[in-house]
Amino acid sequence: MDILSEKFKYPTLKTEAVLSHVTYRYPNWTNKDNIALNEITHAFSPGLTIVDGDSGSGKSTLLRLFNGLIPHFHGGTIKGKITVCGLNVISTPTREMAKHVGFVFQEPDLGFVRGTVINEVAFFPENLGIEPSALKKSVYDAMELTDIISLAKRRIHTLSGGERPTPSGS
Ligand SMILES: Nc1ncnc2c1ncn2[C@@H]1O[C@H](COP(=O)(O)OP(=O)(O)O)[C@@H](O)[C@H]1O
Ligand SMILES: [Mg+2]
Repeated sequence: MDILSEKFKYPTLKTEAVLSHVTYRYPNWTNKDNIALNEITHAFSPGLTIVDGDSGSGKSTLLRLFNGLIPHFHGGTIKGKITVCGLNVISTPTREMAKHVGFVFQEPDLGFVRGTVINEVAFFPENLGIEPSALKKSVYDAMELTDIISLAKRRIHTLSGGERPTPSGS
């Protein structure tokens, strides 16, 4: 697996993630040598990073560290330290990580729960308990940042495959 960090930066995103000597095993593996991530150390700067590798090399596993799905949802055994947005992922609950980290699944359709783009984008801040008076601005800010205002009223099932991941990640 290779981790390639790109030079250009998004001016509004300041996120930083640091992995230090991270080793991880899924819970149902009985062979103790069978590790999904082996001693990963990498500092992710703001900007675009591409993670490249064979099927089964650990790309999805690596991404699950960023919002705490690993270890909090998947369990298993983990060693090392992961810091995202200044938060220690191993000791921070996923409900707190969710305020800082977005995650688009490989198949965005699996994450949609509402009918339209605008309602999908609203689902996340609603779940954070944001005040109704601030909700509309938050939703429009997210759609503007990700350049999908023109899709706001569209029903998800009418979007192309390429248009679907953005509302999922907004
Ligand atoms: N939920 C899981 N439980 C047990 N093993 C898993 C699970 N998800 C992935 N694995 C195993 O972890 C390794 C890395 O998988 P994964 O991160 O999904 O690879 P990639 O995304 O690079 O294809 C593989 O050997 C895979 O079989
Ligand atoms: Mg994968």
